[in-house]
Amino acid sequence: MAGRLEGKVAFITGVARGQGRAHAVRLASEGADIVGLDLAGPLPDAVPYDPATPEDLAETRRLVEEQGRRALLSVGDVRDLEGMRRIVDDGVGELGRLDVVVANAGICTPQVWDAITPASFADTIDINVTGVWNTVMATAHHVVEAGGGSIIITSSYAGKKIQPFMVHYTTSKHALVGMTRAFAAELGPGNVRVNSIHPGGVATPMGGGDMVGQLEEVGATNPPLNLMGSTFLEQVYAEPEEISNVVAFLASDESRFITAEHISIDGGSQYF
Ligand SMILES: NC(=O)c1ccc[n+]([C@@H]2O[C@H](COP(=O)([O-])OP(=O)(O)OC[C@H]3O[C@@H](n4cnc5c(N)ncnc54)[C@H](O)[C@@H]3O)[C@@H](O)[C@H]2O)c1
Repeated sequence: MAGRLEGKVAFITGVARGQGRAHAVRLASEGADIVGLDLAGPLPDAVPYDPATPEDLAETRRLVEEQGRRALLSVGDVRDLEGMRRIVDDGVGELGRLDVVVANAGICTPQVWDAITPASFADTIDINVTGVWNTVMATAHHVVEAGGGSIIITSSYAGKKIQPFMVHYTTSKHALVGMTRAFAAELGPGNVRVNSIHPGGVATPMGGGDMVGQLEEVGATNPPLNLMGSTFLEQVYAEPEEISNVVAFLASDESRFITAEHISIDGGSQYF
């Protein structure tokens, strides 16, 4: 199915590793040039897994270029609207257009409800909600100028059901459902589609460092809640490329009549 995005340009946040990297490589393999950013540095204190590095960002660049496409990747922070505007505007200046946006950057911190501090709650909302709003604000007018396109917002199964021991994360990912619908309504006349995706567990570095230990620790406070992420299938988690399959579909014209939709890739866990 190569070539569905021939001549297109995509902007991706959180592009250094994990799902963001997989999306960049997949969209490039379908013909798109990639503009992207990643913090590629320290995450807020309460986050238990290791941060991405500039070397990770360089590896994504290499993998995109290996597909024969351009990769304009920068260190940047989705919390910084003006900084993101500069990166996007420079990328569009260089590559000529913007057709696809993947608002993927996010953080995830397991904490029992009364251990969540104001700082941890604010960090999660700043990155996972305001960061996504910033991403759309920095990009949408370019997509309208290109004659329309596709904006894909990464929520989570936590945005349809809940992720236990993550009041802040669950709140942030639910907020993205409303944001998706609201942008879809107003950007529709510009032929811009806006959809959210809702992965269940995905094998990325988000599950590294002390993440598993911290999940076990918080899970021990209320064991029945640990079953909430169960799937109906034998498969219990996805590889990042399985999420990229859906991103590539939503980025392509094959999904041209789909907007304001919220697509789960979770083995059914939203209903378990
Ligand atoms: N891994 C999972 O199980 C899972 C499940 C459902 C949803 N998600 C969501 O998928 C998205 C991607 O996560 P992932 O699994 O690839 O994790 P990841 O930690 O491997 O990748 C996230 C990337 O976002 C970057 N980032 C974080 N804060 C940033 C900021 N302020 N500005 C710019 N970049 C920033 C990180 O540096 C990192 O490279 C996130 O929104 C996450 O909440 C993940």
